[in-house]
Amino acid sequence: MAIDSNFLDELRARTPITSVIGRRVKLARSGRNWKGCCPFHGEKTPSFYVYDDHFHCFGCGVHGDVISFVMQMEGKNFPEAVEELSAAAGMEVPRDTRATREEVAHVRSLEDVLEAAQAVWSAALYKPEGRAGLDYLLGRGLTRETITAFGLGWASAGRGHLVEALAPQGITPEQMAQAGLMRVDEDGRPKGELFWGRVTFPIRDRKGRLVSFGGRILGDGQPKYLNGPETPLFSKRRLLFGLDRARAAVRAPRPKGVVAPDLIVVEGYMDVIALHQAGFTGAVAPLGTALTPEQMDVLWQVDRAPILCFDGDGAGRRAAVKAAETGLPLLAPEHTLRICLLPDGEDPDSLVRQRGAAFVAEFFAGASPLSSVLFDLLAAGVTNPGPEERAALRRRLTDVAALIPDKALASEYRATLLDRFFATFRQQGRGKAKSGGGKSAFASPGAVQDSHTVNLDQAQELQRLMLLLLVEHPQLVAEMEEALCRLDLPVDFAPLRGVLLDLSADGCLPQTEDDLRAWLKAHGQEATLAPLMRVDGAGLSHGDVEIVAARTRWWHFYGLLYRDHFIREVMDDAARFCLEKTGDTSQWQRLQARLEAMERLRRGGLDEADI
Ligand code: UTP
Ligand code: MN
Repeated sequence: MAIDSNFLDELRARTPITSVIGRRVKLARSGRNWKGCCPFHGEKTPSFYVYDDHFHCFGCGVHGDVISFVMQMEGKNFPEAVEELSAAAGMEVPRDTRATREEVAHVRSLEDVLEAAQAVWSAALYKPEGRAGLDYLLGRGLTRETITAFGLGWASAGRGHLVEALAPQGITPEQMAQAGLMRVDEDGRPKGELFWGRVTFPIRDRKGRLVSFGGRILGDGQPKYLNGPETPLFSKRRLLFGLDRARAAVRAPRPKGVVAPDLIVVEGYMDVIALHQAGFTGAVAPLGTALTPEQMDVLWQVDRAPILCFDGDGAGRRAAVKAAETGLPLLAPEHTLRICLLPDGEDPDSLVRQRGAAFVAEFFAGASPLSSVLFDLLAAGVTNPGPEERAALRRRLTDVAALIPDKALASEYRATLLDRFFATFRQQGRGKAKSGGGKSAFASPGAVQDSHTVNLDQAQELQRLMLLLLVEHPQLVAEMEEALCRLDLPVDFAPLRGVLLDLSADGCLPQTEDDLRAWLKAHGQEATLAPLMRVDGAGLSHGDVEIVAARTRWWHFYGLLYRDHFIREVMDDAARFCLEKTGDTSQWQRLQARLEAMERLRRGGLDEADI
């Protein structure tokens, strides 16, 4: 706006944020980033983090880039901070100061125009002409206090009212158009007022500055809501209705032991207002669109795990999936999303009025971490899938996990999703629907790991050897895939597993080790093998184990890692095999290998494993 944005980008790029902050705050390395004690609130243990291009304090929530750091630290305004940093970087601030100043003045006057409109509309609500509007709002259960607190108003029916009301203050229709209060023709000339015969909702930015309006028609007309257009003040991508109040509520000082309200994202204006009135002061809403990445960043500046609320019907679930897909590429260990699905066909406004605040509070309290609802959302409607649907769903699950840039977190999500996948569909995948819904007979891998069987180093070595066996006999992956997913692999082994599972899902597992290597090479994935090579050179040529022996050995190693779980599973499958008497030889082969592995496991521990 005021200063050329290319110049500002260049300035930020040339100004290392760690050295600017490091001059005022003692910073220590924390992974790829830096941390220290927050200079904006007193603290003894560091919760102030400095990243490539911004800082964030998990204690008090201050957040910003290098320019806003200087502004907040030194009490400078924006141009002053830019001036100081530019001088230090040996850059010159572009000097069209006259135009710049005019632009700032202009932007300020847009706000004045909006405030003038707000004064007219909020007063009108209490005049005879606004009676219908006031009755409508009261009829929807809002109290007068709430109506005042949110500055709701009434734009009179019949055009021309606002132009007339603002004219005495010297406000022209052109200025009103620039402030987003008028319809305009192709040349940008004002064509008539945007809001009339509607209840008005002032839209404020996170600092409480008026930036636009929304307007709702009384009753059932169309369009139900109108929102102001984009203006220099109003960007729908960034803004969340109610954020000024929610942010203040979340950050307000409170007595010890009293927790901050959750930041809750709902769909509409009325939901936000009804929730605030019912005491959910962290409620916000986007303006009729899906949540954008910018809005998610804004949310995370206020709360590390905001709750996104959706209607429990199909459309609501699709919206939830979409929000998850927007959010996943932005996930990091320090911030996440929670999802809350409401009863079919209800919105928070209707729920809180019909069922009361306590009822709604329970839903919010039951909001699930994204990692645990993601599977339900993606697998919704998939029952008894055939091989193609299975593969497609699994691909979708792994693709979604791969959206997360943080490697360790992505691999956690992948493991969680695939585990749910196998827990839900494993029996069905063998052509046998399982009673009792989606639950697996076995606990999750975290719970089945028998750490006393082997120590951590031994576990790593076993996992390495298990992967090596699969590299030697890629065809085995299809048979092991479920168990393979369960392995709690070190991060650097995980990419190879990913490749193998994907090949299996696509039904194109190579026949031999050479084929696999050729495939990896052709697809630039050779590096996934590197972690399997030991420093001492013990690598892939470790024994040319026949496929039958490899299969047994693989299961033996698996059993060493997950003993109880493995034994239970084999016993179950053996019992089922005997009962079914299908005489399926390949099924028998697989079972035999595992029975033999179980025998070895019973005979002895690791020494027997001959690794
Ligand atoms: P909804 O249609 O879900 O409205 O739109 P609501 O909030 O439940 O409205 P009430 O309860 O009938 O008053 C949700 C949001 O979508 C945007 C608005 O921001 C609204 O709050 N919207 C909706 C529009 O922008 N235009 C429309 O015509 C409808
Ligand atoms: Mn509603």
